[in-house]
Amino acid sequence: MHTICYVSSARPNITQKELTHLFNFTENKNTSMNITGILLFESGKFLQVLEGEESLLKNLFEKIETDSRHNNIFVILNKKSKRKIFANYASRFSIVKSKEELQSIESYLDLIEDAPNVKYIKGILEPFLL
Ligand SMILES: Cc1cc2nc3c(=O)[nH]c(=O)nc-3n(C[C@H](O)[C@H](O)[C@H](O)COP(=O)(O)O)c2cc1C
Repeated sequence: MHTICYVSSARPNITQKELTHLFNFTENKNTSMNITGILLFESGKFLQVLEGEESLLKNLFEKIETDSRHNNIFVILNKKSKRKIFANYASRFSIVKSKEELQSIESYLDLIEDAPNVKYIKGILEPFLL
């Protein structure tokens, strides 16, 4: 298993229609590839956590990195992991569309605090909760 987590800046003139398209595409594609995690967008920034089989994730991330819909990609985690922490949160890859959903993810992470990577992920979620 592998985990990649990053933040990035959305292209400044990105439209709601483009975002909706990206969210639907990502949710379906990742769920079909058995990739779990979250994608959220707030104040022009993306935050994504991806968990899945290593080669699958690396191939996907090569595409994501060159996607012109965002830039300033800052990788927070890119490492092997013992288990998928988001697999028990939802059976699908999760697009986080509201503060309430983000809070429920926080509560979920509180319950599994001792799992690997959780403290990093909680740390980067914090600014998005404000
Ligand atoms: C912020 C951001 C996050 C993305 N996340 C994913 C993702 O998790 N899964 C995915 O398949 N594509 C994601 N994409 C889209 C990819 O960059 C790329 O367009 C897509 O994987 C192309 O897939 P295809 O070449 O298989 O058609 C993301 C794009 C952006 C801008």
